[in-house]
Amino acid sequence: MKPFQATASAHPNIAFIKYWGNEDDLLRLPANPSLSMNLGSLQTVTTVTFTEEVAGDELMINNQRITGPALERVSSQLDLVRAQADLRRPARVESESNFPVGSGIASSAAAFAALSLAGAAAAGLTLNEAALSRLARRGSGSACRSVPGGFCQWLPGDDGASFATTMAPAAHWDLRDLVVVVSREHKPVGSTGGHHLAQTSSLQAARVAGAWSRFEACREALLARDLAILGPIIEEDAVIMHAVMMSSHPPLYYWNAATMALIEATQRWRTEGLPAYFTIDAGPNVHLICEPSHAEAVEREARKIPGVQDVLTSNPGGPARLMDLT
Ligand code: DP6
Repeated sequence: MKPFQATASAHPNIAFIKYWGNEDDLLRLPANPSLSMNLGSLQTVTTVTFTEEVAGDELMINNQRITGPALERVSSQLDLVRAQADLRRPARVESESNFPVGSGIASSAAAFAALSLAGAAAAGLTLNEAALSRLARRGSGSACRSVPGGFCQWLPGDDGASFATTMAPAAHWDLRDLVVVVSREHKPVGSTGGHHLAQTSSLQAARVAGAWSRFEACREALLARDLAILGPIIEEDAVIMHAVMMSSHPPLYYWNAATMALIEATQRWRTEGLPAYFTIDAGPNVHLICEPSHAEAVEREARKIPGVQDVLTSNPGGPARLMDLT
């Protein structure tokens, strides 16, 4: 590995208890605790090189040159790294993901976790997991949960206290997340815009007030590996978040007809003895959570629903890590 260069990988994550709305938008201090599972078969690999060979920061995603707001967001994140390391060099950033951008998988989580780790290492900083998770949080809130491994919790607090930690390692429970892709279109309002709107919904205060008890119940079910208890909690939490989205000003409707069909199908499968539970992020695609023994049948059934384009299956994943490419 060259000096001022490092490569890191990180997995995206799916939240069982959602982060929606900030106490502080700039610092990305969340209004409520959240809990997620890293998605082990999906990953982003990012190389950061601080070099005088470029005039300003350069960004390549999947071999395509990126400019505009996405580059500015990456530059702001690298500015935090440069300030900590007292470094002035611009950076070349090359990032590749093995999952489609806009597939309903929070790509910013894996992207900012990998960027933060590679950037910090390339700048010569040695950050512990908490410091790295705090740094990743500044780039994208959910990215802080892609720094530790397995099932992660992220608690609200001030800048120093709000970071993610492992609640249980990946090996604790071999769950599956089947990402059912029903649209690849770019969403008109992304998560960052959505967080800003959360306060405009009269339901947000009630969502935040109930988040701690859903979080505690989710943690207990997760530690007990009890899907029959976990499943209804994650469904309720996702639906409450979407109720906030739909009642914001202006309203955010992320679901389409196939999203609704999958919600109905999930309920039907359960009465037929096929246990699977849904959760949905800021988009129309549906994540189906089930035991590995049911994953094949759930995928087969999901593919029968009109509008379903693809199914990507993942097991629990480990932490963000540095890669030695020498
Ligand atoms: C619905 O972390 O993508 O996926 O901090 O603006 O990058 P930014 O938002 P982001 O929000 C994630 C929202 C969510 C729920 C979750 O992952 O907890």
